[in-house]
Amino acid sequence: MKHPVLQFVHRGDIVHLSDVPPSRTLLEVLREDLQCTAVKEGCGEGDCGACTVVLGEAEAGQLRYRAINSCIRLAHSVQGQAIWTADDLTTGMVPVAPPNPSHVAKAPATGQERSNLHPCQQAMVDCHGSQCGFCTPGFVMSLFGMYQGKVLQGEAMDRATAQADLSGNLCRCTGYRPILDAAEHMADLPRVQVDEAAVLRQLRAIPSGHTEPASSPSYLAPTTMAELLAARAAYPQAQIVAGTTDVGLWVTKQHRQFDRVLDVTRAAELRRVERYPHHIAIGAAVPLQDAYAALVADRPQLRKFAERFAGLPVRNSGTLGGNVANGSPIGDSMPLLIALGASLVLMSARKGRIVSRELPLESFYTGYRKNQLAADELLAWIKVPLPLSTEKLSVYKVSKRQDDDISAVCLALNLQVQDGLITQARIGAGGVAATPARAFRTEAALAGQPWARASLEQAATVLAQEFAPITDMRASAEYRRGLLAQLPLRYWAEFEGKEPVRLEDLS
Ligand code: FES
Ligand code: FES
Repeated sequence: MKHPVLQFVHRGDIVHLSDVPPSRTLLEVLREDLQCTAVKEGCGEGDCGACTVVLGEAEAGQLRYRAINSCIRLAHSVQGQAIWTADDLTTGMVPVAPPNPSHVAKAPATGQERSNLHPCQQAMVDCHGSQCGFCTPGFVMSLFGMYQGKVLQGEAMDRATAQADLSGNLCRCTGYRPILDAAEHMADLPRVQVDEAAVLRQLRAIPSGHTEPASSPSYLAPTTMAELLAARAAYPQAQIVAGTTDVGLWVTKQHRQFDRVLDVTRAAELRRVERYPHHIAIGAAVPLQDAYAALVADRPQLRKFAERFAGLPVRNSGTLGGNVANGSPIGDSMPLLIALGASLVLMSARKGRIVSRELPLESFYTGYRKNQLAADELLAWIKVPLPLSTEKLSVYKVSKRQDDDISAVCLALNLQVQDGLITQARIGAGGVAATPARAFRTEAALAGQPWARASLEQAATVLAQEFAPITDMRASAEYRRGLLAQLPLRYWAEFEGKEPVRLEDLS
């Protein structure tokens, strides 16, 4: 099987690699093929952030920057993009005039002469943000992503923003205070920016996907929906991938190799969020960070929940469609989407025509990580109804750590309350069954009941009996059942204003 030529922009050049197998990770290509050893490998599973690099992608004529974990990203997925590692921040940058006097450089804290380090590197030096240094290149790249995406766009770099954006990077010796200091300090240093015109010129010279199905390549990344569905029909055995934030672990932890990969993330149609009068449609290849931004635009109370979905590098790579299609019972999107009444649009190409069918999200799953996709079908859209004025929505993620962790239980409750009556209930639950689940019995117990504590108490009793959770490394079955019996009461208290403290605020 033929490996397609992989091309991306790095250090001012277009890199061409002709023998990259489909399962090879970006980290392996950077460290072993290109000798970019500033990129570190820590966990190899998207948890620690040591391997963070920044991708630049042309979007509407501009560069969009995303910090991602290179350890679990397949190398071919960066076809047609630009890459920066911690080694690459001092070349190809041009000075920026300070937008206001407060951004004039301050004296280095150490009194030493400044080097030509990038501001996000210099800030780490000035603020003593590194000790053993193993995590430092990863932190620097997350800072670089913030610098390009926020600081240079005029956004204030406050501590809360820095903490949220660095939630995918772990440090075991410096401690986080000096690193957060550096995140705030980098905006004060003389500004530089990527020579975007030069990078965009180079990107225009490279195809953005791998689109030669006739040559039977080992990695397919069609750029249109029609080509994608044709490739799916032609190669039904190909491993479907999106952001590979889970599939990447099959490679790094289970040492699986794929003969052929079908990457859905290059298809332009699947990268859009479309708004309609009564719903939004989120393309299956929209990154989680953008998908949650669209959900938060309609339901601002979801912002903190969205920030607790893994760390930013995972949300920048992983897609909403990938999370849904993967079908992990502990995936965080599905309980919420079930509670919101989301439906899925599956598409295929049959007899020369594109056909589609739509089904409620909760009926997509047929067993542990099994779903209804036919051999020629792909998940194309996730349709989410817009909120009604009667909606009372809350979602609870219970995990051992506040940031960058997987749920023991995730519960989303969405009741419609009108004139003191619960007119409709939708409840989605994760971590309590072999699939993401809808709590039909509990919903039935709530529908038509008065909006009162007694109704939620009764619902909590039903909910605790509706599922039979298991014991695993995240929680015991007993603890999970206990959560099911308590969270509806927290929900009630929250909406009655009697207990305004949210779990997220207890950090
Ligand atoms: Fe830990 Fe990649 S090595 S996130
Ligand atoms: Fe040692 Fe962060 S400086 S792990």
